[in-house]
Amino acid sequence: MKQKRKINIALDGHASTGKSTTAKALARRLGYIYVDTGAMYRAVTLYALENGWIGPGFFYRERLIDALNGLDIGFRYNAETGTSETFLNGRNVEALIRRPEVADYVSQVAAVPEVRRKLVEIQQQIARQGGVVMDGRDIGTVVMPDAELKVFMTASPEVRARRRYDEMRSKGEEVDFEQVLRNVHQRDRIDSTRKASPLRRAEGARLLDNSNMSIPEQIDLILSWVDEVLGKE
Ligand code: DC
Repeated sequence: MKQKRKINIALDGHASTGKSTTAKALARRLGYIYVDTGAMYRAVTLYALENGWIGPGFFYRERLIDALNGLDIGFRYNAETGTSETFLNGRNVEALIRRPEVADYVSQVAAVPEVRRKLVEIQQQIARQGGVVMDGRDIGTVVMPDAELKVFMTASPEVRARRRYDEMRSKGEEVDFEQVLRNVHQRDRIDSTRKASPLRRAEGARLLDNSNMSIPEQIDLILSWVDEVLGKE
C-alpha cells in the first residue's frame, strides 16, 4: 500500500481549549511531530522574568529585544515520559514555564513584534519537514498559512475557566474560580486585540467548539478531517 503523504496541521484557538492535549494526541496517533508554540513564548517570558526585565507595572522591552538573537529555544524528546520538553539555552525549562508567574506576563511578551518574528522563523523552519502538528494562536494565519488542515478551537469562557481551575486544583494549587475566569477573559482580550498577529480564525480553518465535547471526541473529529484531506489527494 502506498504510504500516505504527511500533511501539516495548524491548531489555533483560545486559551484552555485543550489545544495542546489534542495536538499531542493527534501527533502520537499520526506519528507526526508536535510543536507547542505557546511553550516558546513562555520560555522567552521566563527569560525576561529571570533577568528582571518584566514584573508588576514594568517591562524593559528593549533589553529583551536586544537579547533575542542570543536565545536558543527548542524541544527535545524525552523517551522516558514520551513527550517533548522545552529547552532554553540548553536548560530544561518545561516545568518552570508552566508556573503562574509566567502565565501572568506571557501575553505582554507575545505582543512584541520582534519576539514574534524570531519565534515564527524557528517554527517555519520546523514546519518545512512536513508531518507537523503545531498549536498556538497564529499558526493558520501566519506560521503555516498553507497547512493542509487548519482548525480553530474554542469553548465558552466559563467552560475554559472551569477546566483551568480543575487542573490547578488537581496540582494542589490554591485558586479562586472568579480569578481564573477573569484571567481567561483578560488573556482573550489581549490575544485578540494585540496589533501583532491577533488571534483570529484563519481563512479555511474549520471551527471546533468543544464546550460540550470530550477530548477523545474532538481527537476523533479532527482525525476524520485528516482522512478527508488525505482522501482528496
Ligand atoms: O498556549 P499557551 O497558553 O501556552 O500560550 C501562552 C501565551 O502565548 C498566550 O498568552 C498566547 C501566546 N501565544 C501566541 O501569542 N502565539 C502562539 N503561537 C502561541 C502562544
